[in-house]
Amino acid sequence: MNTNLDRYDGRMRYRRCGQSGIVLPEISLGLWHNFGENDRFSTGSDMVRYAFEQGITHFDLANNYGPPPGSAEETFGRILKQTPSMRREELIISTKAGHEMWPGPYGDGSSRKMLLSSLDQSLKRMQLDYVDIFYSHRYDSLTPIEETLQTLVDIVRSGKAYYVGISKYPAHEADFAYKYLRDRDVRCLVYQGRYSMFNREPATEILPRANEAGCGFVAFSPLAQGLLTDRYLNGIPENSRMARPDGYLQQDQLTPEIHARIRALNELAKQRGQTLAEMALAWVLQDQRVTSVIIGASSVAQLKDNLRATEKPEFSPDELQTIDTILNS
Ligand SMILES: NC(=O)c1ccc[n+]([C@@H]2O[C@H](COP(=O)([O-])OP(=O)(O)OC[C@H]3O[C@@H](n4cnc5c(N)ncnc54)[C@H](OP(=O)(O)O)[C@@H]3O)[C@@H](O)[C@H]2O)c1
Repeated sequence: MNTNLDRYDGRMRYRRCGQSGIVLPEISLGLWHNFGENDRFSTGSDMVRYAFEQGITHFDLANNYGPPPGSAEETFGRILKQTPSMRREELIISTKAGHEMWPGPYGDGSSRKMLLSSLDQSLKRMQLDYVDIFYSHRYDSLTPIEETLQTLVDIVRSGKAYYVGISKYPAHEADFAYKYLRDRDVRCLVYQGRYSMFNREPATEILPRANEAGCGFVAFSPLAQGLLTDRYLNGIPENSRMARPDGYLQQDQLTPEIHARIRALNELAKQRGQTLAEMALAWVLQDQRVTSVIIGASSVAQLKDNLRATEKPEFSPDELQTIDTILNS
């Protein structure tokens, strides 16, 4: 039973984000790849519009998505301008700062200077007055954590973001952030972390602690950048992320062991009457502490496939055991 289910409108299920007033769609769309200047605008625009029509209200961006950095935010701003049906009050738009963005001493890290300048740039690129969620994209050990967190507090008070979140923070620093923000009446809405069948670490520390702190959790790269799909079952397709020179998925990640696991998982997915992508997303979403999975896609067809993730019955104990055995092999 889906205990975290807060709303279902016939197309999409929405889960409450921690102990906040916000619900997020179980499936969110991220614009890390495939929305840059080098990508076809009409494909990106078709995907965003289709996603919204299917109830995906949450779109995840960052200052540096592209390439070149910043161009995904520009693309998204253009799409919004051309799609009046995507009304601002119906959307949860997130962006982030913390990774290298521009040359020079202030274009990287999580200083007050970086976060405030970057957010202003993001708003300009997306042609927005505010974002719904602004993230500290990473913990930066060179900046005092209080400086970063106080900047998040000030950003919410300025009205440029409605909520704030943290991404990829180590467990100890995340605990510090939950408390710091709570003590200043600006709750940490959400922790964004990498979580998939191939990256199960958050289940041990990050997820339970976020949950305890009343903070939601959104899982990024739930398909391990495409490894947990049928994309690489029979080699490396020409137009895939792994084949692209600007893609983050490297060929050496497709080891013989990973390949064997993908094949075994694909067989199990077939037995369940699902694609591997559907099964991989369903596996992450079975954890009720997960508010949403942020998927990437390069076509509307992939999006359609992924939106079917929760149509099949829940996993049986035997199936979960088989998955564990495959992942530990
Ligand atoms: N906070 C952070 O530091 C951080 C880091 C990374 C990502 N993120 C967020 O998470 C989002 C998602 O990350 P991700 O793109 O790595 O997610 P992902 O869902 O793990 O991978 C997406 C890729 O998988 C392939 N794919 C998707 N659906 C498929 C299907 N049904 N069948 C076959 N292949 C399919 C596509 O690859 P092809 O392009 O090859 O078709 C697609 O580009 C990002 O856009 C970003 O918003 C955040």
